[in-house]
Amino acid sequence: MLSYSLIAPAKINLYLEILGDRPDGYHELAMIMQSIDLADRIDLRSHSTDTIRVHCDHPQVPLDKSNLAYRAAELMGKEFPTAFAQYGGVEITIHKHIPIAAGLAGGSTDAAAVLVGIDLLWNLGLTQSELQELGAKLGSDVPFCIAGGTAIATGRGDQLSPLPDLDNLYVVLGKYRSLAVSTAWAYQTYRQQYAHSYIADAQRLESRASRVHSGPLVNAISHKDAVKIGSLLHNDLERVVLPSYPQVLQLREAFHSAGVLGTMMSGSGPTVFALAESNSQAEKVKHQVRGMIPDPDLDLWVARLCNTGTQVASSVKPH
Ligand code: C5P
Repeated sequence: MLSYSLIAPAKINLYLEILGDRPDGYHELAMIMQSIDLADRIDLRSHSTDTIRVHCDHPQVPLDKSNLAYRAAELMGKEFPTAFAQYGGVEITIHKHIPIAAGLAGGSTDAAAVLVGIDLLWNLGLTQSELQELGAKLGSDVPFCIAGGTAIATGRGDQLSPLPDLDNLYVVLGKYRSLAVSTAWAYQTYRQQYAHSYIADAQRLESRASRVHSGPLVNAISHKDAVKIGSLLHNDLERVVLPSYPQVLQLREAFHSAGVLGTMMSGSGPTVFALAESNSQAEKVKHQVRGMIPDPDLDLWVARLCNTGTQVASSVKPH
C-alpha cells in the first residue's frame, strides 16, 4: 500500500498586529510569519476500510474529530468523494515534537501535512493555492503552514505574500509544559479590552494592513538585518497573555537579560522565543536561561529558521 512521510514545521510570529473585527467573527490581522525547523512528522497511508484513523505518540493529542489533522482528512473525503471511494480510508500517524496549545501552529501544520499528503496519496494533482484554499477552511494558519518560509499574512491570517528567506538565524524557544493558552480565549480577551481602539472603516483597515508591506520590519528582513529584526519584533496578544501568565513574562525577561537580538511571545502563546545570530549563541542563551529558571516544567529548544512549509520526507510505493 502506498504511504507518505511528511515533515510539518512549526511557525513563530515575528509580528502580530490586531487591526479590527471581521464580519465573520474573526480578527483582521497584519502578521509576519516564519517557519522553524522544530517539526512534527506525519505518516499517511491508505487502508481498505472507509474510515479515518489517527494515531499519536503524545497522550494529550485527541484522536477524534477535535484533531485538525482528522478534520483535514475528512475535508478531503468530502471534496473528493470519488478518490476517497477509490483509495479507501486514511491512517494518520502523528509523531509529535511541537508542543501543543503553544502558539506554534502545531495542530495547523499537522493538518497542512495531511492535505498535502492526501493530495499525493490520491494522485489529485492540486496546486499549492488550491491546497491553501482548502486549508483556510480548517484554520487561519493552515495556508501559511503549507507554503512556509517567511511571509506577510493579512486578513484572517490566510492572505499571504512571501518575503525573502531568513533561514540563517536561530531561535531559542521556551515553554512551560503545564501551561496551555487557548487561541480563542486570547483573541476574545483582547476584544473585551481593546475593541474601542479597533479600526472600523473597511478602507482604513485595508490601507493599514497594506502598510506592513512597506514597514520597517519587512525592510529589515529584506536586508537580512538581524539586529534590526530583533528590535522590531511585536505581538499585540502579549498585552492580554502576559498579565494573566506571570511565568511567561518572567521567561521573556530571562531571555531579554541573556542579551539576545530580541524576544517575543509567539502567536497566542505561551511559547516565548528569542532570536539569536548563530547556533552557538542560541545554545549559550538556552544554557543561561536554564540556569536562571531551573524549573523542570520549563522546556527549552534551539531551532533554526527555515524556508519550507510541509515537505515530503519519503514515500513508499506499492510493488
Ligand atoms: O483559525 P483558528 O481556528 O486557528 O482560530 C482559532 C481562534 O482564534 C478563533 O476561533 C478565533 O477566536 C481566534 N482568531 C481570531 N482572528 C483570527 C484568527 C483567529 O479572532 N484572525
